[in-house]
Amino acid sequence: MTPSNPTFPSVLLTASGSYLPQKIVTNDDLTKTLDTSDEWIRQRTGIAQRHIAAEDELTSDMAVAAAKQALNMAGLGADALDGIIVATTTPDDTFPSTASVVQRKLAATGFAFDVQAVCAGFIYGLDVGDAMIKAGKARKILVIGAETFSRILDWQDRSTAVLFGDGAGAVVLEASDGGENSAENWGILSSVIFTDGRFRDILYVDGGVARGQVGKVKMVGPDVFKHAVEKLANGLDQAMTQSGLGAEDIDWLVPHQANDRIIKTLQKKLKLPDERVIRTIARHANTSAASIPLAFDEAMRGKQIKAGDVVAFEAIGGGLAWGAAIVRVGRP
Ligand code: UT7
Repeated sequence: MTPSNPTFPSVLLTASGSYLPQKIVTNDDLTKTLDTSDEWIRQRTGIAQRHIAAEDELTSDMAVAAAKQALNMAGLGADALDGIIVATTTPDDTFPSTASVVQRKLAATGFAFDVQAVCAGFIYGLDVGDAMIKAGKARKILVIGAETFSRILDWQDRSTAVLFGDGAGAVVLEASDGGENSAENWGILSSVIFTDGRFRDILYVDGGVARGQVGKVKMVGPDVFKHAVEKLANGLDQAMTQSGLGAEDIDWLVPHQANDRIIKTLQKKLKLPDERVIRTIARHANTSAASIPLAFDEAMRGKQIKAGDVVAFEAIGGGLAWGAAIVRVGRP
């Protein structure tokens, strides 16, 4: 939540970057090995294709590529950062954190850690970064969402294999300093995060340290769908209330790209026309923690979203973990 106390700095979202692996796998490609069809996948999800990481491509590699673009857009060197937060559920290794690896590859200093909230990870990273800057613990933080979900998919399971893709997106958070880049009602206006562990069993990976193997994604899709519609609407409501803005003030919805039918429901709730919703699901599929910053960066670079626009983010994933944020983007 954004305190109204003026002694807290505004936390500006000043820049973004993204990266997609070169290899594209279409729905038709998947029909060669799975009992599925392009028609089913498009109709039930909105997905037409996904990008898949090369064999030697790691989550940290994609994160670094997105980070470099974001730093470039912000006009900052990596040495200007106080910290790096990487949202991922597909780290290079169990430890160290992928953020540590990214720090090393960028030759940055300061703190670096991962947050693990699966598809909601980017909102969690934003929420934590916002809180750290408001608390005076940092002034410039890179928040990255990066995933190689292709490595935790059961490619024989048509109910999950068709849904996900790989990629990375990054944003730069900067404290406004009370000088010329400070203005009221800019930056992260609100963010909310929630977890309900009772629903752990409807979306999880059946592996990890305890089982001695990496494991594969398991999902009860229709159950997750129902929770997504209800919980994302509630999360958005709470984020809007805390920001002091209403649905009529939202310029853009940049939703988690899991299913176009979920996106449509939320779009209807905010009464936003198609031109105000950023959709990358057809081309990117669900890239988990990377999906929002990837979509956001495309819209920033495509000059759809401009400085001063109010953007609503929302996401839900395994945990269940979900969240939403309202941000007036760019520098004043
Ligand atoms: O990012 C994390 C959050 N994740 C989500 O938000 C995902 C939420 N869930 C969903 O998006 C949807 O539930 C899915 C896209 C996963 C599934 O769509 P659905 O409309 O809920 O389908 P369903 O699971 O109820 O399956 C309907 C039918 C079944 O066949 P029967 O039992 O009716 O004969 C499935 O076996 O579709 C079948 N099916 C498929 N058919 C062709 C399931 N997957 C496929 C497939 N191709 N890939």
